[in-house]
Amino acid sequence: MEHVPVLLDAIMEMLQPAPGRTVIDATFGRGGHTRAFLERGARVIALDVDPDAQAEAEKLSREAGSDRFRFVRKNFGQLAEIVAEEGSVDGLLLDLGLSSPQLDRAERGFSFQQSGPLDMRMDPAQGESAADVVNRLPEPELRQLLRDGGEDRDPGKIARAIVRARPLRTTEDLAQAVIRATKAPRPGSKHPATRTFLAVRRAVNREGEMLDQALAAVPKALKPGGRLAVLTYQSLEDRVVKNWIRDHAEEEKRQPGMAFGQPNPARWVKSLGEAVPSEAEISANPRARSARLRGAERIAS
Ligand SMILES: C[S@@+](CC[C@H](N)C(=O)[O-])C[C@H]1O[C@@H](n2cnc3c(N)ncnc32)[C@H](O)[C@@H]1O
Repeated sequence: MEHVPVLLDAIMEMLQPAPGRTVIDATFGRGGHTRAFLERGARVIALDVDPDAQAEAEKLSREAGSDRFRFVRKNFGQLAEIVAEEGSVDGLLLDLGLSSPQLDRAERGFSFQQSGPLDMRMDPAQGESAADVVNRLPEPELRQLLRDGGEDRDPGKIARAIVRARPLRTTEDLAQAVIRATKAPRPGSKHPATRTFLAVRRAVNREGEMLDQALAAVPKALKPGGRLAVLTYQSLEDRVVKNWIRDHAEEEKRQPGMAFGQPNPARWVKSLGEAVPSEAEISANPRARSARLRGAERIAS
């Protein structure tokens, strides 16, 4: 399945791409959002760790020209380095999670709906695969990983079932271990291995850590007046983004002990609110179902 960019109009409105403005698309994927930024005249610097995303970006680079579009095969956890080289920008997009081709290609090992090697690396040349992680970790650490990374309801039972099923080699091995510990999948309800797959994927790609590093680089990444847009697909990540905006956004009320009119240096953004896909978008693109967009603007000072 082609990747359909999610909340495209809301993101364009939030980041306002235009001639003379530069946007970092930190999760290029198949370039859905990048193409729309380019069509509106902005310059785009795009990042992704996935080799297939790089191949797509190379095609786009030939179309758009290197003065308007540059792709860097880097992790957005390295955003600070990229900004140090490229300078600060007018817009920054993080569209977290997986692209449709990553999910659909069985050999990438992301999906419990398809039988494939238990891999789940966004960059298949880097680090440990999902099989390495679930076969190596001692049971208490596995339990912790399932609890923290996917909020699994019964991480103890699932961790025990995984340890008993070792060695796990395929996505089916992991899905079956979870089913044995919990219940059989039922049509129309969420697959019992959903949270387990999410937790393992997050651990394999160090997703929490990379998001924290990217958010820490936002003050340097954005020019005054520059805007951040983050699309998340699950509550754990949405909470991180929501709290980050809340912790850095200007408050209506003055802080106790602050002199009148003096800005608080820890609060340097203005929240731009949130958006979710309409019913029409979800019926056209069911993978947008759980998406939530949040935005913030760096206060001009
Ligand atoms: C949801 S897709 C983005 C889709 C894109 N906005 C589009 O419309 O085509 C997420 C992409 O981010 C990439 N990605 C995830 N984590 C990353 C990270 N830490 N650094 C760089 N790229 C990452 C994935 O490889 C995937 O291609």
